[in-house]
Amino acid sequence: MATNITWHPNLTYQERSELINQKGATIWLTGLSASGKSTIACALEQLLLKEKVTAYRLDGDNIRFGLNKDLGFSEQDRVENIRRIAEVSKLFADSCSIAVTSFISPYREDRDKARELHVNSNLKFIEVFVDVPLEVAEKRDPKGLYKKAREGVIKDFTGISAPYEAPIKPEIHIRTDLLSVEESALQIYNYLKEHNVL
Ligand code: ADX
Repeated sequence: MATNITWHPNLTYQERSELINQKGATIWLTGLSASGKSTIACALEQLLLKEKVTAYRLDGDNIRFGLNKDLGFSEQDRVENIRRIAEVSKLFADSCSIAVTSFISPYREDRDKARELHVNSNLKFIEVFVDVPLEVAEKRDPKGLYKKAREGVIKDFTGISAPYEAPIKPEIHIRTDLLSVEESALQIYNYLKEHNVL
């Protein structure tokens, strides 16, 4: 724990937002592995950038190559994974950018903490449940991980040998077995428009 530190204030969020003419927000995608989070996040990021809205994707697999490379998949490590991403996405939102996070984030409590962190700083937090039946995710199995989890080669695999707590009241609920990638990204984009984020 650091001591003897002082918060250094600068421009307010409002002032920054007016200067760059954009609002910030965190779009928090949660769902099983292979539910489509990363694919939708990519499509949404591109859609926003093409509209000249600054957006940046924070992706579970990618972040684990760098910032979170010291973390595995135990409950404790997943909690820390999400805690750090909640803090980082909050910085993006505070910088008036759109953070698009795609992490399984299996625990409701951790997602609620991420939300609280944003809300306490008057920043928008939009939870998106990227929903697909487990059987569909398992059939997709793009990385062959479900197969390995069933064989017991991978331990603590979400949906198989580790829990996934679905959101109770997400702002957006997407069934990726029923919608295309473009339709899914558009659903989020339209929500942002309707709620004055864009
Ligand atoms: S989280 O649970 O801590 O939010 P995160 O989204 O960062 O997970 O990482 C999930 C990705 O790591 C999966 O998409 C998959 O590619 C990979 N992975 C490797 N091992 C596991 C595991 N035991 N459970 C879930 N995903 C795993």
